[in-house]
Parts: sequence; structure tokens; C-alpha cells
Amino acid sequence: MNNSVWTNDVQMPTFGRLEQDLKTDVLVVGGGLAGILCAHRLAREGVDYALLEADRICCGVSRNTTAKITSQHGCIYAKILRMFGPAKARKYYEANEEAIQAYYQLSQSIPCDFEWKDNYIYSKESNHDLNAEIAALSHLGIPVEFTKNIQFRFSVEGAIRFRKQAQFNPLKLAAGLAKDLRIYEHTAAREFSEHTVITDYCKITVSKIIIATHFPILNKHGSYFLKMYQQRSYVLALENAAQVDGMFLDAAENGLSFRNYGDLLLLGGGGHRTGKKGGGWAELERFTRIYYPGAREVCRCATQDCMTLDGIPYIGQYSKRTPDLYVATGFNKWGMTSAMVSAMILVDLVQGRENPWTQVFSPSRSILRGQLLNNAFEATVNLLTPTKPRCTHMGCALKWNPIEHSWDCPCHGSRFNEKGNLLDNPAANGLP
Ligand code: FES
Repeated sequence: MNNSVWTNDVQMPTFGRLEQDLKTDVLVVGGGLAGILCAHRLAREGVDYALLEADRICCGVSRNTTAKITSQHGCIYAKILRMFGPAKARKYYEANEEAIQAYYQLSQSIPCDFEWKDNYIYSKESNHDLNAEIAALSHLGIPVEFTKNIQFRFSVEGAIRFRKQAQFNPLKLAAGLAKDLRIYEHTAAREFSEHTVITDYCKITVSKIIIATHFPILNKHGSYFLKMYQQRSYVLALENAAQVDGMFLDAAENGLSFRNYGDLLLLGGGGHRTGKKGGGWAELERFTRIYYPGAREVCRCATQDCMTLDGIPYIGQYSKRTPDLYVATGFNKWGMTSAMVSAMILVDLVQGRENPWTQVFSPSRSILRGQLLNNAFEATVNLLTPTKPRCTHMGCALKWNPIEHSWDCPCHGSRFNEKGNLLDNPAANGLP
């Protein structure tokens, strides 16, 4: 059983393959929520565009998210304040708050189970990180509350509350938006040159390209293979478990997250670097047995997130040398607001307009961060490991994942099923 809770009552629209040459102003590559939101905004502004999806729309991470819409991304403000200063930290907040409002506006015309909820970052052991985060938030003038009044079945030392955040069903929104868009499914972009994209069947002539393929698929520019790795995490949807009034995430790395969807409790966690060992669903099952002994699992899914060097997504020009190529990636497990922020920024940039958040999310910002060494180390070790099979992205040794029966790459997170078919990019091809 491996299925997303969002798919139960949503019929995604289907689209044909692009089989004839095409000319368009903006080409969006990737039909997840970020790509769809970009296409929707382009359409709304009357821009000539098309969206290509290699498989089916929202068949990747967009269907396996816990779908929290919040500007509270763990204890991130203390970190951004330290690295980039108050002006950028404040802009990060404002961009994400505006993304929440944009979802609310869309939910007025597309029913997608949108609900206003408070979001909490809680701590089980000490309030050390929370205190530093509260100090940063106060410095930035961001309204915040500390509370000890959390009704969990385990004890919590305290939590930071952001009021008026939101949750929804992402596939209901994506289906509602996509049906009116110019989308081509089963159409993989194979080769890129400055203003031409080649697929298996045709050539597309474009002015600007937005790459929204989860992990960017072009290795030649931007060094994303150095700047990101992927993290796997797991969700159980539980019936007959406690209702939680809000959305909750542990401040500790790889802690648990909670939200409700209707009567179901969505319990998330068990995360680890793709290709490495981690808690997985077993950790969530153990937790359920202890704290929700009467609960019944309705469905489960796993998802995969691109993690950046500094915790901020890469949204903007793909690299300094590619003026007409743009990217939206590295959402660090906060894909909902980041997808909307991507659409807001990129739709401005492709039309030559200024955007107030460009600098904060610029993919060309400094890469001199500690995580860079970890990424380089991991790549070197796995490139030198002599075992087979090898990843078709850049040749790292793949690791067998006995839980999900897949071959996973510790370098950048590509995954392949038992038959060698591609499950997750950045690899573009299956195993030979
Ligand atoms: Fe890059 Fe495997 S994902 S080498």
C-alpha cells in the first residue's frame, strides 16, 4: 500500500502528447504544482506559453506532500538573519506570506479544502532553538507567540505559533487550475539550446524557459549537482487517531509532523538522505502503536525533497550565463509556499519585470556553506564505490532500498524501480 491521501477523490485532467513543432514565448518544463502555478499566472497575464510534462501532471512530489501552506519553515528565521541580515530575512517572510494569500484567492474559485490553521514549531526537549528563533522573529517584527499549551499525547516543552496559516488538498487545486491550461503530457524535453528545446517527437522554439522539474535536469549550468541533495520522508494517514487543531512540526531535525485532513491524521517523519538508511514508515508505525494504539492506517506515501546549501530555495535565473533560462527548485520540504513564490517571481522575470524577492532566492548566491563539503564528500565516495548498478545521472553507485524496493542514489537522489525504470530525477533515463 503506497498511495497519497490526496488522490482519493480527485480526477486529474489528462492531456495529449506534443507531436508537432511549436513556437511559444515561454516554455515551462515540469508539470508539478510549481510548473502549473507558473503556467496559470502566465495564462492570466496573457503571455503565450506552453507546459511540458514528461509523464502525467502532479505524478511526483506534488501528490505526496503534507500540503501545509505556511511561512514558518522550521526555525529558519534565526538562520537567515545570521547568514543574510534582517532585510533579506524579512523579505523571505513577506514572500511566503504573500504566497499564502495567493492560495487563499485561488481557493475562492477552486474548491480545494483550504482551511486557515495556526502553524506550530514545537520542541520536546529544550526551548533552546525556540528561544533563538523567537529572538530573531521579534527582531524582524514578525508577529509570533510562544505557548506551552499543546495538547499532544507526549509532552512538549513549548512551541512557536504562527497564526493564520493554511492547509489544503494540493491535487484539487492543481486539477482545477490545469484543466484550462496549455499542457502537453508524456512529452519529455531531451535537449536544450538557447532558444530551442528538442523532445522525442518535435522541436519547440522559445524565448524563455522555466525549468520546474523538481531537481533541475540540466547539468551544464548552475552546478545544482553540488548545491543540492535529496531527502526522503514518509507519511501515514491514520483513521481513529487524535484530531490536532493546527499544523505541527518538531524543531528537531527529522522530527515528526502532524496535521489533519478531514477525520484523518497525517503523521509525517522518518526522513533521511535518499540512498541512506533512516526511520522510514517503521518509525511512524512504532510511534502510532505507542501514542495512537486504536488508530488504523488508511494509506501511506513517501516523498522526496531537494535540500539547498542554506535552506532557501533556488528561484530565478538558472545561472549567471543563461539570461533566458530560469529555475524553481530546492524547496527544502516547504514545497507549497515555495511553488507559489516561484510563480510570483518567475512570471515577473520572464516578462522583464523587477521583483522584490529576486535577491533572496537568487540561485547565483554564494555556495560557500558547510553543506557543500558534505555534498562533495558524498559524491566522491559514491563515485569511487565500485559496485553496480550505476546511476544514469552522473555515475554514482546505487544503493538498494529494501523498504520501497528501489535503487536509490545517495549523490543527488535519483531512484529506479526493480526493473530499472526511472522513478525520481535528476537522472533522465532508466538503468540499461
Ligand atoms: Fe546524480 Fe545519481 S543522482 S549521480
